[in-house]
Amino acid sequence: MIKVRVPATSANIGPGFDCLGVALNLYNIFYFEEIDKGLIIEGCHEEFSNEDNLIYISMKKCFEKIGYKAKGIKIIIKDNIPVSRGLGSSAACIVGGVIGANEIAGGVLSQEEILNLATEIEGHPDNVAPALLGGMTVAIQDNNNINYSRINVAKGLKFYAMIPDFKLSTKESRGVLPKEIPYKDGVFNVGRVSLLITALTNGEFNLLRTACDDRLHQNYRGKLIDGFDEIKKKCEDLSCLGVFLSGAGPTIMALLCEDGNENFYIEIQEFLNTLSKKWEVKSLDIDFVGA
Ligand code: HSE
Repeated sequence: MIKVRVPATSANIGPGFDCLGVALNLYNIFYFEEIDKGLIIEGCHEEFSNEDNLIYISMKKCFEKIGYKAKGIKIIIKDNIPVSRGLGSSAACIVGGVIGANEIAGGVLSQEEILNLATEIEGHPDNVAPALLGGMTVAIQDNNNINYSRINVAKGLKFYAMIPDFKLSTKESRGVLPKEIPYKDGVFNVGRVSLLITALTNGEFNLLRTACDDRLHQNYRGKLIDGFDEIKKKCEDLSCLGVFLSGAGPTIMALLCEDGNENFYIEIQEFLNTLSKKWEVKSLDIDFVGA
């Protein structure tokens, strides 16, 4: 069987809407095998064990692109990335499915072609790029081609994901965004995202609080997330370096220095326990390997 391990991802990182993303050390593992006929999917709820499964859809698109006719497919899923929480579970399925199919077909597609196809399926590259390549990436689509670059984040940063027990679909979360934004909001984000990248690479972590701010999506989406403003404020009171919505949400991500944050985990979890919805904190590091 072919084994593919795909990391969770946190997209946008504040102002980098649809272009920045980071791979984190939480993984889904997929096993793929070509069988004599039919489709077998193990390890997920019965309602997803069919041809509408996103992993299988991604495999089919890959087979179509290559021109390979699989007799039948078996997929086994071991998932750890929470679904519809803004941690790249869809991107993991897409990247996993495309890589699995490509391997079955003999490894025809290059990494760039895998990235292009995965982006075409997902609709934007900010989750699939880090899921495939690892690390923190900036990825943009230009004439059906993805241009990407790795951001060399200075050492010493820790990610804390605050994950609620409710889901928010990307479709719903994109649905509340405006069609147009004021020019000054565009300028606001250009400055923040530029500052964010240099602050991360230079290790100027004191700049992250300002650099993680944005006017493209978080203010609109925050309203969909019960507890967003309170949690953000609490993180800031606890001296987090930066706080932002992970991807389309509802997970909220806090950045802290690796050293000197011993109490954060306990204090934020205590605070989260006072809220009406259930939230769990997970401490995560950057995955540098990718799928
Ligand atoms: N950039 C995407 C968004 C990530 O914010 O909608 C979620 O898939």
